[in-house]
Parts: sequence; C-alpha cells; structure tokens
Amino acid sequence: MKVGIFGAGWVGLVTGSCLADLGHDVVIRDVVPEKVAALREGKVPFHEEDVPELLERNRDRLSFTLDAGEVADGADFLFVCVDTPPTHSGDADLSRVWTVIDELPPLEERTVLVMKSTVPVGTGEKVRAGLDARGLGNVGYVSNPEFLAEGRAVADFMNPDRIVIGAYEAADGDAVEALYDGVDSTVVRCDVNSAEMIKLAANAFLMTRISFINEIANVCELTGADVTKVAEGVGLDHRLGPHFLRAGIGYGGSCFPKDSLALKQLASNSGYHFQLLSAVIEVNELQKRRVIAKLQKHLGRLRGKHVALLGLAFKPHTDDMREAPSIVLASRLLAEGAEVTVWDPVAKPNELLKGVTARESPLEAVRGADAAVIVTEWPELRELASPETLEAMSGTLIVDGRNLLDPDEVRAAGFAYEGVGRSSSPVTALPASEEEPAPTT
Ligand code: UGA
Repeated sequence: MKVGIFGAGWVGLVTGSCLADLGHDVVIRDVVPEKVAALREGKVPFHEEDVPELLERNRDRLSFTLDAGEVADGADFLFVCVDTPPTHSGDADLSRVWTVIDELPPLEERTVLVMKSTVPVGTGEKVRAGLDARGLGNVGYVSNPEFLAEGRAVADFMNPDRIVIGAYEAADGDAVEALYDGVDSTVVRCDVNSAEMIKLAANAFLMTRISFINEIANVCELTGADVTKVAEGVGLDHRLGPHFLRAGIGYGGSCFPKDSLALKQLASNSGYHFQLLSAVIEVNELQKRRVIAKLQKHLGRLRGKHVALLGLAFKPHTDDMREAPSIVLASRLLAEGAEVTVWDPVAKPNELLKGVTARESPLEAVRGADAAVIVTEWPELRELASPETLEAMSGTLIVDGRNLLDPDEVRAAGFAYEGVGRSSSPVTALPASEEEPAPTT
C-alpha cells in the first residue's frame, strides 16, 4: 500500500518507519525544511530506540518531503500525525489538523484519512463535515489512535495490546485493518467517537493509577508502610494488575499532562465536571513539590545549598523533557536560592532550565552537593550510593524520587535516604541558621 504521513514528529516517524517495515511504501511530510533535510540524511531529531535502524533498513520504502501534494499523490492512506498541544484553556489545539485538511489536494481515487493524533471526541465528525464541505466526499475517515509509549514505541507498534479502529464506512475500517497485516493483536472495531474516547480514557486511567499509588505512598510515609511492598501486594490481585503502580514524583511527558487537560476540558465543555480527573491532576502537581519538603527536612533552608538533580527527561530512555518533573523541581530550588547542578545521559537543559549547571556524569553533578535527587530512574543511577559519591558530596542526603535504590543498602553505605512512600532516615543534624526555621512539612 502507499501511505502518506502528515507530521515527521515522534508519532509520525515511528508510525511511518514501522509501516515501511511491514512492507508499505511511505512518504512522510513535514513543514520544517531542516527536519526534512536531516531525515533525508538519515538523522533522527529525537532519541527513540530502534527508529534509526528502521529508517536505515527501509530506506527504499521511505521518503521525506515538504510538499503536501507529493504525500497525497496516489496514496491509499493518509495518516494525520501532527501534534495537538494544549491551548491556554486546556482544550486541544487542532489548528495543525485543520491545516492538513485544508492542504489536501483534490483526490481522484478513494483515499482513507487515518487520524493517529490524539483528538477530542467529536473531532472525526467535524473533520468529516470539513472534508465534505471541500468536495472531498471520496476521502474516507478512520480514527486509529496510537498507544505508543516513548522509549519503547517501536515495540508497542509491532506488539500492541490492541488496535482500535473507528470508521464511518466498514470498508475503510477493513482497509486500515489490512494495513496492519503482520501485526498480531486484538482489533477493536467501533464508531469514530468511541475510538477517540478509548484513547483519552486509557491515558486518564493510567494517570489515575499513578496518582492513586502516589497518594497511597504519601499515607505510607505517615503510617510506616512501604509503598513498594503495598503495590506488589495490590498488583497481584488479577482484577487490578501490577502496571502503573510505581510511586514517584509524578507523571510528565508530552501525553499525560496534555491529554488529562484535554479530557477534563472536553467534559467541561459538554457540561460535566470530571471531579476524579481534576483530583488526579492536582495530586500529580503536588507530588512533584514534595521533594522540596524532603530536602528542607534534612537541610533546613535551601538558600545557598547545593542540590544535584539526576535525570532531566520525564522518564528514562528518552530525551523528552516536556512537562518533566525536573523542570518544576529546578525552578522551585532556584526560587529557594539553591545552587542546582544537573545530569542526564541524553536530555540537555533547555530554556526552561535557565540557571542550572549541567555536568557530564552523575559523579560530577553531585560533587560538593548537599543532596542528590534521583528525578529520572536512569539505570546508571543504580550505583549512585557508592563510596565515590559519598566522598564527592559535601552532604549525605539522597532523595530517591523514583524508589530506584534499596533504602537499607543506601543507609549502610553511609547516606541518609528519603524515598517515596518508604520509611525515611532520621534527621541527623539540621544546620544552624540565623534565619527563621525551615518549614517542617
Ligand atoms: C503514555 C502511554 O503509556 C502510552 O500508551 C500513550 O500512547 C502515550 O502516553 C501517548 O498518549 O502518546 P508515555 O507518555 O510515553 O506514554 O510514557 P509512560 O511510560 O506511560 O510514562 C508516563 C509518565 O508516567 C512518566 O513520567 C512516568 O515516569 C510516569 N509513571 C509511569 C509513573 O510515575 N509510575 C508508573 O507506574 C508508570
């Protein structure tokens, strides 16, 4: 099949390279000339495992263009993979989707427009009407949301839990289903509105699990339970399952924060106050800030203190810093007057992290630090509680925002340890301060 893809972002490139690997001819279009030029030279503009290899392996079946006409020419399918960022109101900004519709040239043969971008429920109906108004009645419309997680997107595409296909015409849905021949998965066929809602509801449910376990963790801290054991025991109930029960410093990324706001706003625009989702979002915001209180508990006032943030990306195996907890933490620490050094193996500090100093290794980042904070659970940080770290730091506190380390081992190595939802080390020596006492929360 000939597949055109609008948008050479993360979703478009993963989708395009995987479809090429399934044997289809794929043309990917983007509006940024530098991006298209780089991709033609085989350079991938982000860090995602397996994508460079897929692009290389399928070179003959993949091309890149700036021209909307070229991508549509003779295409059996046109995938919309543009981003839908939040507007100030929290609604999804669909302007890039509408630009794609506006740019479609007249199409002689039947072509199916496939929506991969995450969009509010009702978008398909509006696009369908827009296509008809443009005289593009022979363009079919199918909602086929993506369920790819960053860092494992190619594996998610090739081995999905399900493929969701919502179509107005059954034949268009059949055609999209056939496109995935070679991918072994359950296919959910439904109407377009339901397909759109499946995507939003799945992400909202995952976020609900994270905020739920984070609140359980916070209660564990007050009552002496260990959330990692609690999550293990809870997750073994087959009705609940073990996934997305890792307590930490909150979710981030390009999807969850944006999609939660979009669903909340969608409900609100439709006359419904989605209370549970509002709480999930608020819990997540507060969770990031709890690290500051843990630092203050051991260090007193943070002005003039040196804190090393280890990990910038919103999760490991990606360089994506969108809505990363590291940004909120760094801003709060700088606002408190702390000195902040940072380390990440792939993500580099961006304009939102002005004022921090980047270091090349965890050891360099913690040199002279009063405290080290594990913000992202990079595997390299498993060895953090080493004699070298202890010698390099001026203090002994490790705040483990991802429960990556074993508290007993860390303490045995001479550090004070604060995890999330686990017993904390006693405060040994609060530094004398002439200023007012530090908050104790
Ligand atoms: C998420 C979903 O997992 C994908 O299914 C979905 O397709 C994607 O959003 C999207 O809408 O495009 P992603 O944001 O890449 O994927 O990353 P996740 O692995 O889901 O992690 C999201 C955040 O939740 C991270 O900040 C992670 O640290 C946090 N998390 C995850 C926890 O705090 N605890 C957990 O138990 C799991």
